[in-house]
Amino acid sequence: MNEFQAFRIHNDDAGYRSGMESISVDALSTGEVLIKTAYSSVNFKDALAGTGKGKILRKYPLNGGIDVAGHVVASADPAFKEGDAVLCTGSGLSETRDGGYGEYARLEARWTIPLPSGLSLRESMILGTAGFTAALGLLRMQDNRQTPALGPLAVTGASGGVGMLAIDIFSRAGYEVHAISGKADHFDFLRGLGASQCIDRHQLAFSGKPMDSTRFGGALDSVGGAMLAGLLPLIAPYGNVAICGNAGGIAFDSTVMPFIIRGASLLGIATAGTARDIRDEVWRRLASDWKPQHLERIATREVTLAELPDVFVRMLAGDSFGRTIVRIDSTL
Ligand SMILES: NC(=O)c1ccc[n+]([C@@H]2O[C@H](COP(=O)([O-])OP(=O)(O)OC[C@H]3O[C@@H](n4cnc5c(N)ncnc54)[C@H](OP(=O)(O)O)[C@@H]3O)[C@@H](O)[C@H]2O)c1
Repeated sequence: MNEFQAFRIHNDDAGYRSGMESISVDALSTGEVLIKTAYSSVNFKDALAGTGKGKILRKYPLNGGIDVAGHVVASADPAFKEGDAVLCTGSGLSETRDGGYGEYARLEARWTIPLPSGLSLRESMILGTAGFTAALGLLRMQDNRQTPALGPLAVTGASGGVGMLAIDIFSRAGYEVHAISGKADHFDFLRGLGASQCIDRHQLAFSGKPMDSTRFGGALDSVGGAMLAGLLPLIAPYGNVAICGNAGGIAFDSTVMPFIIRGASLLGIATAGTARDIRDEVWRRLASDWKPQHLERIATREVTLAELPDVFVRMLAGDSFGRTIVRIDSTL
């Protein structure tokens, strides 16, 4: 097993490039827990990293993949033993250390999560960083007193990975969910996941006023830019907007009014560096009362490592639809 196949990213004198290659287990980043990978997934960040369209890696070369799930092969930490099912998301994967796009991965024990009972390895990767993000957004909103009584939660980028999982999780948690999406032909699908209303983002006409009639109790925004600026004046008193993404741009124009008149809060979601105790809590919820009820429907595509470049291109073109999972162990 010393040599194995990985999707590896380079940036050197020969330029930025990525693709399949054979590497040795000894070449993997250091860590206590060696795993045989079963599944990974594709997140927007993976597409940026795999194509070089965004600066994600902070050292080269590295195996791509910010998510991974598999079985322990060997562990220098007694908390893990051979055969244990584990997962890891973020935590430096495909940023500062080799990620999940390889037949083997070596993980740091402090960031390795025992697979919670209630989830299969495959389900854990349908969730992956996308599901973790949606659940962390809800956890942070609820910590800041979000309740269903404040009004519906808007979910932007609703047809993407984070968006679909947020619709499912939020509706399961008792919220009315309004999905905002650019893909009107998929509104029935989004309703089937739990959205009670679907709003075409191309038809959204924000007034541009600093404050407007309240429409949402809060929001999870994976789009940023003009979308975020347009949402803030519509948020009910003491509602929360959890901002996790920038699919539509990084800069936004706003005023202080939603914050100082309505007490709205803007909560930042940065999953990669989430503290261990919060990680454990989020995974516990994702495996129990917040477990999405339509995971298999949300997993719209399953690919091999070699098929990743095509997925990246479609994702960066705004063409995502649900979650793409990567089957790495072909025997499963
Ligand atoms: N902060 C964190 O820790 C964290 C973690 C995970 C993800 N993210 C971020 O969250 C965002 C979504 O990630 P994802 O994995 O769900 O990606 P995804 O599956 O590609 O979904 C992105 C969705 O955003 C919408 N969109 C794309 N281009 C847009 C544009 N130009 N203007 C407005 N909407 C646009 C599309 O939805 P519709 O067509 O339905 O509108 C698309 O399906 C990304 O920006 C990602 O980097 C951040």
